[in-house]
Amino acid sequence: MTEAYPITDHTYDCVVIGAGGAGLRATFGMTKAGLKTACITKVFPTRSHTVAAQGGIGAALGNMDEDSWQWHMYDTVKGSDWLGDQDAIEYMCRNAVPAVYELEHFGVPFSRTEEGKIYQRPFGGHMKNMGEAPVPRACAAADRTGHAILHTLYQQSLKHDAEFFVEFIALDLIMDDEGVCRGIMAWNLEDGTIHRFRAQTTVLASGGYGRAWFSCTSAHTCTGDGHGMVARAGLPLQDMEFVQFHPTGIYGAGVLITEGARGEGGYLTNSNGERFMERYAPTAKDLASRDVVSRAMTMEILEGRGVGDGQDHIMLHLEHLGADILAERLPGISESAKVFAGVDVTRDPIPVIPTVHYNMGGIPTNIHGEVLRPTADDPDAVCPGLMAIGEAACVSVHGANRLGTNSLLDIVVFGRAAALRARDTLKPGAEQKTLFKGAGDYAIDRLDKARHAKGNSPTAQLRLELQKAMQSDAAVFRSEKTLQEGVGKVHSIAKGMDDVSVSDRSLIWNSDLVETLELDNLMACASATIVSAEARKESRGAHAHEDFPDRDDENWMKHTTSYLQPDWSVKLDYRPVHTWTLTDEVEYIEPKARVY
Ligand code: FUM
Repeated sequence: MTEAYPITDHTYDCVVIGAGGAGLRATFGMTKAGLKTACITKVFPTRSHTVAAQGGIGAALGNMDEDSWQWHMYDTVKGSDWLGDQDAIEYMCRNAVPAVYELEHFGVPFSRTEEGKIYQRPFGGHMKNMGEAPVPRACAAADRTGHAILHTLYQQSLKHDAEFFVEFIALDLIMDDEGVCRGIMAWNLEDGTIHRFRAQTTVLASGGYGRAWFSCTSAHTCTGDGHGMVARAGLPLQDMEFVQFHPTGIYGAGVLITEGARGEGGYLTNSNGERFMERYAPTAKDLASRDVVSRAMTMEILEGRGVGDGQDHIMLHLEHLGADILAERLPGISESAKVFAGVDVTRDPIPVIPTVHYNMGGIPTNIHGEVLRPTADDPDAVCPGLMAIGEAACVSVHGANRLGTNSLLDIVVFGRAAALRARDTLKPGAEQKTLFKGAGDYAIDRLDKARHAKGNSPTAQLRLELQKAMQSDAAVFRSEKTLQEGVGKVHSIAKGMDDVSVSDRSLIWNSDLVETLELDNLMACASATIVSAEARKESRGAHAHEDFPDRDDENWMKHTTSYLQPDWSVKLDYRPVHTWTLTDEVEYIEPKARVY
């Protein structure tokens, strides 16, 4: 029997879940539009994972070389391996330049060229003139660009008097009988109270789910909380099989070494000291797209040319760049290399390995951030009252593989787009329907069940089993065998949630309970990922299938939608990729072979 939990009620025009770059940009945009907006966040805003983004934000400013947003669009479509929606990609790349100038005016301390312009560096897959040669497009604040942007956006939020609910755990959406999202339930960790937020619009900006893997660059908070809520509400997740491995995570630690290191001239070598990327990507070399570089590194290791006693990693060289450049442009990763690998980058190479970094899939949305609930008649139908932005969402601008720097761009462009949509469609203070009887009970029942869970499997044990299974079976290279095994393993681990044990029943600062709720979300994400991956019989972007090594546009140029079932199985459906552009200023980019 569920205990009685006193509830504190709130009414807002908009409620945003998450205070990373996307959440903050939406929060103060909505506040600025006169909408009463609450931002609910499980960590203090400036601790959100955006803080960890390093190398830059992509925009064709053309400060260091000729560039155009159309070339940026081409690179993004090609990078996505033609799974990205071209109307959405046009929207993002077209808005990139004003978005970066807006950030500059907000106060982001970008690095500067000698003439005082925003400094830009080359990044993987960013090329001039439709793939001819690398172009510097990553607008950088040294190698701490995410840190600079996040702090600036938080300052803007304070300036606009946005309201924050810090260290609140979002539990579940409040969905009514007509399938309209009416708000969200949350638990205040500080005093153990339960809160019901009623809102005209609820915005999920809750980040990715990298923590479903054993080794990732993601913060411990990246547990797919928005994905879990959406899946439990019977809404789909999209393209969950596409998971990005960043080529340069520090071996053994998972800590990110920015691609900007290769943008500044760093390069990779195998155990023979060979710069092997020249064989895999003759034009772009070490600056090929991330999926290409990660696969090349994995091939070198599998073919016995890995470095070290276990021949299981690769070396990243920066020592030739010189101490001054390293101190000026790459101070953060120089420190990380020292702390996490014991390497002085002015003298020695850094041991690196492809490491889970980003989820291209997520909650499907249109370019306004509105969450999709596809029907047979309308694959772009929306779920009223619900938005998603940032890594939690799948717009889809990244398709099967994201270009580096397009994640910081995505969060500011679509955080702003969601705020504009709310401004244009909502009336500040509009009367909201009285909530239905029992609104929020589902969330409380779930919390109560976890609080009283007295099974035999500690949360940490189940999480480790899940992370190991995902690490081995949802890997850089996949096969029929590993994927089928993965589906079986993940399903049986997820069923273990019925036998979970939670040692502490307190509602105040109970990390065991928080981690159990987070694990529930991770299980939903992992289930959708492995089932979607097993079903996709081709190779595209980050989904490299050894038994189906080619891209198959005829049968597989389509988005996967996955629906979580109460028994942890997953049902799949598909919706078409958008093969149109927003305006006639650009043409649809026809699919072709992807070479770098
Ligand atoms: O390598 C990096 O600095 C990461 C950037 C990104 O994921 O966009």
